[in-house]
Amino acid sequence: MGDEEIPVHDLRTDRPTPARMYDYYLGGKDNFAVDRNAAEQVLSAAPEVRVLARENRAFLGRVVRFLAEEAGIRQFIDVGTGLPTQGNVHEVAQAVTPDARVVYVDNDPIVRAHAKALLPDNGTTAVVEADMRDPGPILDHPATRRLIRFDEPVAVLFMSVLHFITDEEDPYGLVSAFRDVSVPGSYLALSHITPPEQGADGAASAADVYKQRATSPAVLRSPKEIEALFDGYDLVEPGLVNLPKWRPDDPEAVKDADSVWMLCAAGRKR
Ligand SMILES: C[S@@+](CC[C@H](N)C(=O)[O-])C[C@H]1O[C@@H](n2cnc3c(N)ncnc32)[C@H](O)[C@@H]1O
Repeated sequence: MGDEEIPVHDLRTDRPTPARMYDYYLGGKDNFAVDRNAAEQVLSAAPEVRVLARENRAFLGRVVRFLAEEAGIRQFIDVGTGLPTQGNVHEVAQAVTPDARVVYVDNDPIVRAHAKALLPDNGTTAVVEADMRDPGPILDHPATRRLIRFDEPVAVLFMSVLHFITDEEDPYGLVSAFRDVSVPGSYLALSHITPPEQGADGAASAADVYKQRATSPAVLRSPKEIEALFDGYDLVEPGLVNLPKWRPDDPEAVKDADSVWMLCAAGRKR
């Protein structure tokens, strides 16, 4: 995949998309005026969103390294991949295990359009353009079947993505579809926005920009609601915490972690 020409109208240049707004927060160049405009509206309500995005990428790097190095995971499904940036999942995993396999899944066609930049040319990775609200076609996709062996432990990642799923769209059901095809010893890792104790109005206004303007709304969930996504998994230390607190490389450097209103955790399937 990734070699086809993508017609420009498929890229939804008329409305901001979460992938391109996130790219803008991270300082990327793969976004349009419509995305920058909405992202600036988010940042004026909650300037710390840039920090959230950076801390989220840092967590992704630490948790994938943990999964490859300490948990011995050799295959990953990264749901809601986003645009290529530094420290993509296969780069982190393959630095530990050179033949680690990664299936990237995203419903924004711009991610597939950039697949060439994302994928190494060695058959260990693939990009599947699909909507996670319908897990069946992702699990049955030829690329998934080629790269993932469901009789071996697999790590499924939902990094900063399940908050784009409303309660009516059943985030718990879609996570359990991946859990149910995973063997014991598999992992689930995710990050998710949560209402902050301080600055709750800014966070709510930022979420409102997505609801009013973007192709997906953004839903803030409580710690209890986020932890419930791990049904069937045992959380590894330190449990569900604000992003900077999850196994930091330098615990001394962690400051103001509670102001980073995105929680994260990793769990091992029982
Ligand atoms: C905030 S970005 C996170 C990117 C990356 N996971 C990270 O943590 O750096 C969210 C991504 O989820 C994707 N996404 C949102 N809703 C989706 C859905 N229903 N199915 C698949 N991908 C989705 C967006 O297109 C976007 O690329």
